[in-house]
Amino acid sequence: MSQFVLNGHPVTLDIDDDTPLLWALRDALHLKGTKFGCGIGFCGACTVHVNGRAIRSCITPLGAVAGQQVTTIEGLDPDGSHPLQKAWIAVQAPQCGYCQPGQIMQAATLLKDFPDPSDADINAVMAGNLCRCMAYLRIRKAIKLAAAELKDGSSHA
Ligand code: FES
Ligand code: FES
Repeated sequence: MSQFVLNGHPVTLDIDDDTPLLWALRDALHLKGTKFGCGIGFCGACTVHVNGRAIRSCITPLGAVAGQQVTTIEGLDPDGSHPLQKAWIAVQAPQCGYCQPGQIMQAATLLKDFPDPSDADINAVMAGNLCRCMAYLRIRKAIKLAAAELKDGSSHA
């Protein structure tokens, strides 16, 4: 039995605490935005937030998030208009799109730590989020666009 807060709502799951959080999200809770890529913490496709920080849900056991605040791409913004989501659309960042929820969740953590990120900051923090479509330059552009919007006084933290 595991209880945590998911996208602002309390949830209780009666499944093994060793179950990867990714499977709990996708299979038990039917939130398919978070993706499976490698399953061993190397690609970032499964990135979600725990207490506002990016983590790899494929290697995080469900028991580790008991009592914690978990946020998925579905909960990043109530209506999908987080500055990062708007910037992603504005620059048409995705190609196939598979890696993109994880990229956005990682980028949200990045902007908390680096409100005005340099190319080097972005490259360093995003290095663990792989994109087999090689959309890295557009992703970097979108992150900078979102940073500019946040700097200009968006209500999003
Ligand atoms: S699926 Fe989790 S890091 Fe690749
Ligand atoms: S957009 Fe296809 S894997 Fe990144």
